[in-house]
Amino acid sequence: MEKKLQTAVLGATGYAGAELARILLKHPRLTPPVLFAREGSDASIGSVAPNNGSALPDYEAFSWDAAQRADLLFLATPHETSWDLVPQARKRGIRVIDLSGAWRLMQENNRAIYNLPEQNGHAALLQQSVYGLPELHASAIASADLVANPGCYATSVILALAPLATAGLLDTSYGIVCDCKSGVSGAGKAPTQKTHFVEVADNLSAYSVFAHRHTGEILEQLGLQSKDIIFTPHLLPIPRGILSTIYVRLNSDSTAERVEQTFRTFYSTSRFVRIFPSPQLPQIQHSLRTNHCDIGMVLAPDRRRMVIVSCLDNLVKGAAGQAVQNMNLMFGWPEWEGLD
Ligand SMILES: NC(=O)c1ccc[n+]([C@@H]2O[C@H](COP(=O)([O-])OP(=O)(O)OC[C@H]3O[C@@H](n4cnc5c(N)ncnc54)[C@H](OP(=O)(O)O)[C@@H]3O)[C@@H](O)[C@H]2O)c1
Repeated sequence: MEKKLQTAVLGATGYAGAELARILLKHPRLTPPVLFAREGSDASIGSVAPNNGSALPDYEAFSWDAAQRADLLFLATPHETSWDLVPQARKRGIRVIDLSGAWRLMQENNRAIYNLPEQNGHAALLQQSVYGLPELHASAIASADLVANPGCYATSVILALAPLATAGLLDTSYGIVCDCKSGVSGAGKAPTQKTHFVEVADNLSAYSVFAHRHTGEILEQLGLQSKDIIFTPHLLPIPRGILSTIYVRLNSDSTAERVEQTFRTFYSTSRFVRIFPSPQLPQIQHSLRTNHCDIGMVLAPDRRRMVIVSCLDNLVKGAAGQAVQNMNLMFGWPEWEGLD
């Protein structure tokens, strides 16, 4: 029988890391993951993940010696931490999937929003980093040693627009409007005034207008310029899930059937993208706790204007599930193992 591989997760006390631990534990090709808490943490698995506490191993304090024993290290840490740790991991020959935004962006002007100090070797390492969206970059991911797992909003928007962008069908002169809404777990576990129950419950609010970090990913991956897009995130009063409503205009007349077929052909080998028959539209509740990105579209009677709706679970296809999909590609396993 094939030897099971060992993974390790730093940031396993956080929302994305805990979700990742849950998925890794059930993966048929893996031994239970090593779960690192940051040095000095006294968190126990039972206190952080009571539902999984009996099956998951308890946390270990992070050390490079322990990390080096793993075949793959996941970083589910803030971007500043990942920015510091990835070069150290790669120096030790450790393959990494980083869930933060630190290693996703190739263009300096897009990266500036993260305010990360450029250091020796970071630029060269950025060139080796592969944007971990399997539906677009499967073969590059397979041979990568450093995968930058995409942002949750960015995944929902890029997957919704990639078929049209690739086919050259987008009319950008009217601007593409991405009206996106996320559950509160997208902000991580640390409570803030913005994510406090009293502020979020029975409410809906926009934030980071023209200033959200995921904008750069969307532009770079779709080959767009900032003038082409308006991306406005909103905070939904639910724990998890994203719904992106995207308003676009095609550059030539089309039909609902033709547009839908463009999406179906583009994603014909993509198990985790579900295209809805037009005019049916996806809802958040159907992709929750799955690795699916659900996409539906409606073309206006003028045959040009179009609304695309894209839904996913920010902690699964938007984070942990996508990271496992990337791991499967990196080790040559079927992309869906451990995720169905
Ligand atoms: N939440 C989402 O929907 C989502 C989606 C896609 C990507 N991401 C990205 O995934 C990463 C984790 O997000 P999250 O939502 O899980 O955040 P979170 O709930 O705040 O968890 C952050 C994790 O990082 C650990 N950590 C913080 N500073 C550290 C340090 N200096 N050294 C070692 N560990 C440290 C925390 O440990 P303690 O428990 O000790 O504080 C915790 O385990 C972020 O980069 C985020 O942008 C999140």
